[in-house]
Amino acid sequence: MSFAENLANYQNRVELALDYWLPKSEIQPHILHEAMRYAVLGHGKRIRPALVYSSGAAFGVNPQELDGPACAVEIIHAYSLIHDDLPAMDDDDLRRGKPTCHVAFNEATAILAGDALQALAFHVLAHDKNIKINAEHRIKMIDKLAVASGSRGMAGGQAIDLDAVGKKLNITELENMHIHKTGALIRASVELGALSCPEIKTSELEQVSHFAKCIGLAFQVQDDILDIESDTETLGKPQGSDMARNKPTYPELLGLNGAKEVARNLHLEALASLKNFDEKADMLRGIADYIVNRKK
Ligand code: IPE
Ligand code: IPE
Ligand code: MG
Ligand code: MG
Ligand code: MG
Repeated sequence: MSFAENLANYQNRVELALDYWLPKSEIQPHILHEAMRYAVLGHGKRIRPALVYSSGAAFGVNPQELDGPACAVEIIHAYSLIHDDLPAMDDDDLRRGKPTCHVAFNEATAILAGDALQALAFHVLAHDKNIKINAEHRIKMIDKLAVASGSRGMAGGQAIDLDAVGKKLNITELENMHIHKTGALIRASVELGALSCPEIKTSELEQVSHFAKCIGLAFQVQDDILDIESDTETLGKPQGSDMARNKPTYPELLGLNGAKEVARNLHLEALASLKNFDEKADMLRGIADYIVNRKK
């Protein structure tokens, strides 16, 4: 199967699983459930779920056991996007080619949809009967996702991002912001896939984790680049939003060519960390290529 076929397969798989876990909009409170489903279903590249499946595959884990972790990371991601777009944060009105959640519904509903999605992600990890690992391992997974989402991960990175508006960050500070706001969840995606293998060795976990650290940072560097080089229709979100909001970004600090060089180097470093892995890790390698070459 080609990379594109495999990716489409993972995207379809997670879509069905997300639909299963999200409460139907017929269930009360209707509007809240509708907003949650609106923000999660039907769109998005599903890179984080694809990383869960691909990382699990590198250790021979069956995709059925990975549906829950894949849903959990995507649900956290969708929540982070709803809140990221709010007027108090980036104040954007387009996401995944549609009006953002607070525009389609209202601000209070968008805040609550984010809150409820965050809780749902942990429910999925705690509850899913297809996760076969023992309870101790499952708690480790829940903990990884909690740390990656909270003040020491994504939410912390978002706080740094908001505080940095209009300021000049140096490269270390910018890297720290990106590693937290975007890298942490991408890293957790790979780690959750790997932790789904009961026999995982610490050294193997460290190698895929370093891979994930590199591609997580590369992902946000490329996001910064696309904010300049792409267009709103392709992106499905407003192009030029960073510049309009005075956000510190890699291209702003290093120029477009400098930012592209950082992404290329991170890509090489990511691939090098998989040197001990066989062809079962090819999807992970493919996603690393995809992340730095993507146009949206
Ligand atoms: C956008 O993430 C937010 C960032 C962390 C840069 P994605 O580019 O993965 O967004 P979707 O899920 O495909 O919409
Ligand atoms: C968002 O970074 C990261 C999170 C949502 C945690 P951005 O603000 O750059 O993401 P986009 O460009 O709006 O997707
Ligand atoms: Mg933002
Ligand atoms: Mg944003
Ligand atoms: Mg961005």
